[in-house]
Amino acid sequence: MKKKRITSAAAHLAINGGPPVRKKTPPQKMLVDDAEARAVAAVLKSGRLTSLSNDTTDRFEKAFADYCGTKHCVAVNSGTAALHVALAAAGAGPGDEVVAPPYTFIATVSAIIQQNAVPVFADIDRETLNIDPALIEKKITRRTKAIVPVHLFGLPADMDRITAIAKRRGITVIEDACQAHGALYKGRRTGSMGDMACFSFQESKNMAAGEGGAIVTNSGALADKCRIIRHIGMAAKYEYVALGYNYRMPAMSAAVALAQLRKLDSFNERRARMADYYRKNLAGLPVKIYDPPAGVVSANHLFPVTLPTCGIDHTFEIYKALAAENVPVWWVYPRPLNTVEFIKNKRAYSKGCPFDCPHAAPSKVAGGGCPVADELSARTLVLATAPCYSEAVARDTVKAIRKVLPEYL
Ligand SMILES: Cc1ncc(COP(=O)(O)O)c(C=O)c1O
Repeated sequence: MKKKRITSAAAHLAINGGPPVRKKTPPQKMLVDDAEARAVAAVLKSGRLTSLSNDTTDRFEKAFADYCGTKHCVAVNSGTAALHVALAAAGAGPGDEVVAPPYTFIATVSAIIQQNAVPVFADIDRETLNIDPALIEKKITRRTKAIVPVHLFGLPADMDRITAIAKRRGITVIEDACQAHGALYKGRRTGSMGDMACFSFQESKNMAAGEGGAIVTNSGALADKCRIIRHIGMAAKYEYVALGYNYRMPAMSAAVALAQLRKLDSFNERRARMADYYRKNLAGLPVKIYDPPAGVVSANHLFPVTLPTCGIDHTFEIYKALAAENVPVWWVYPRPLNTVEFIKNKRAYSKGCPFDCPHAAPSKVAGGGCPVADELSARTLVLATAPCYSEAVARDTVKAIRKVLPEYL
């Protein structure tokens, strides 16, 4: 596509001094009410604030496992911690490889590196923005310990194909469901399809606790391992059986998470309404929007929109012009993780670990071409769907897109 020269007619754009669509960008925040306040106050008044002395975290675990349709849940203090614990429980370590998509939040991959394993990137499918199962096959070696599909922006990855590939080879599947609480894949909730699945309850997520995370699984053995790793490697008081971390979820966070879990379905309905509004009202514009494949219900964590721009600078101009209109539009992942400097240059732990660790395959470079992720990350913005926003925000976002795009394309 040829880049358009902005004319004087564009003086109506806020970036050029014209009146913005909204006076101020509405902040994204959690939707909380008395339910969360009462639950937190009860924990606080009890004087027992740790999960070791207060049963709120246990109660949240039971409720969240029931919601996901899994037997076990191990609550932790972030989604990153959940991924780290799950990878450790899967036995991923020095010399092992873990296949992951390059188009995701950094935590998906930093947890792999934290565990001293090498991330191996399989490119994404241009119709879903999720990891492409056909490309996973090509990345598997005898060193592959796990596959971490991400349900990006709330849309479940192609789990039937991914679990079939993994099963044939005895590889562990860890769903990164940090953006997909309550999404459905062929009638099953995200979290219930992999050997383990990881969730985040960070403030922006579909249900939140401020910070928080969880691993869900149907395996009692994996759940036991996760519990030990999250609790500094202790199987019982002062019985140290493994290398572990203090990743326990505090009781006050669990109290918030329990209250939010009860509202998750209604939050997701609000997100779906925002997504439907975008889908209907962006029709006819030269942007690509992503419809869930048959049998898949997205949790609509964000609403991705791919622009027909010519390169990252062109996207940046449009992004800045939209931001100036004061609507909640973000460019969350402008480049794929295989191109992030410290990963590309294999600088994580000192002395080359894990990439050049003596246990790792010498030819393995973490980077490597992911042309679809390269192309789409440079052109894909996301629109807000958070339940704190009213339909007026969705309306203004579409208005801003309709105002800005013709001046740049
Ligand atoms: C896909 C994905 N994975 C992992 C994480 C990490 O979660 P947390 O921020 O709770 O550590 C996030 C959170 O932003 C995420 O979006």
